[in-house]
Amino acid sequence: MQQRNLGPFSVSAIGLGCMNLSHAYGAPVSAEQGERVLLAALDAGVTLFDTATLYGFGANETLVGRVMKSHRSRFTLASKCGMQGVDVAGDGKLVRVIDGRPATLRQTCEDSLRRLQTDVIDLYYLHRWDKQVPIEDSVGALADLVRAGKIRSIGLSEVSAATLRRAHAVHPIAAVQTEYSLWTRNPEIAVLDACRDLGTAFVAFSPVARGFLCGELTDVSTLDAKDIRRAMPRFAPDAYAANLQLLTGYRAIAREVGCTPAQLALAWLLHKGEHIIPIPGTTSVEHLLDDVGAAGVQLDAAVIARLDALINERTVVGPRYSAQSASEVDTETFESRAA
Ligand SMILES: NC(=O)c1ccc[n+]([C@@H]2O[C@H](COP(=O)([O-])OP(=O)(O)OC[C@H]3O[C@@H](n4cnc5c(N)ncnc54)[C@H](OP(=O)(O)O)[C@@H]3O)[C@@H](O)[C@H]2O)c1
Repeated sequence: MQQRNLGPFSVSAIGLGCMNLSHAYGAPVSAEQGERVLLAALDAGVTLFDTATLYGFGANETLVGRVMKSHRSRFTLASKCGMQGVDVAGDGKLVRVIDGRPATLRQTCEDSLRRLQTDVIDLYYLHRWDKQVPIEDSVGALADLVRAGKIRSIGLSEVSAATLRRAHAVHPIAAVQTEYSLWTRNPEIAVLDACRDLGTAFVAFSPVARGFLCGELTDVSTLDAKDIRRAMPRFAPDAYAANLQLLTGYRAIAREVGCTPAQLALAWLLHKGEHIIPIPGTTSVEHLLDDVGAAGVQLDAAVIARLDALINERTVVGPRYSAQSASEVDTETFESRAA
């Protein structure tokens, strides 16, 4: 597979988002299936594995640690801190909390290292900027972890270009991880360029639009009751029905190019910049191999222009996040730019 630079690492152009094995889209898969997907990714040449403290409230890091520890030298391990499950009410129920205080980040790193069964995490992201804590303080704590040899590099997730630059002044930021796909173009406003200027890799999460661009999800009423897409405005039945109309022209382009819809979405991202590394998530070995195949798909400028015109912030119906989730991110949006 083609390789891309990420901080001090050279990684496969397509990484694996491990979240889906334990979190987000319905019930977690079995331990056996999780293991099959992780090892199949390694066999297929994937060398960037992405997890987080948050995913499955630690269960995803535990899975990755158990399955991957004997292969530790073969891949770049990325995890995240600053957003985790906390027993806020003292009733044993964990709720998602954003907390970027230095002491919390130090403790979370110890917990991540233990669950991941490793001495050092290659790339440790601040999952969300905690707006109660200056970014300099959170990144300063991560810089201390680099100096202590517990992490090798620092990443940020869902930050604006301005926040990235402030953070980068404290310590080089190896990667920014933010949602980017044909249907989520916010990074094109400023962050992609800021990353290019600073030598920071851009890791594109939800690169196949949480399944939309794969074409298999045609009926959102089939989603599990706990599937987080149920709370996303674009997946509300009316909005999704409108968005599905876009797939007719999209599938036609995929047929012309000679690739699958998922591969078209990933190849489009790879063509948008040498510093972009998509991390699709999947629970299926078949889908994983399909995704990895995108690294070999060539798109010419005319095809990219047709895709850009077909699916973009003006043609997609519905914002990507609910108002609550939107308030938790720092990324520039087309709506705020227009206001
Ligand atoms: N930093 C953050 O805040 C943040 C937020 C969200 C996600 N992430 C990271 O990004 C990774 C990927 O994002 P994501 O999972 O939200 O979205 P995604 O990769 O765009 O989409 C995942 C969905 O697409 C389906 N899919 C994937 N490949 C497919 C294929 N070839 N054919 C058909 N269906 C396919 C999967 O279903 P199947 O399981 O059936 O394949 C799953 O439902 C996560 O695992 C996580 O590591 C980070």
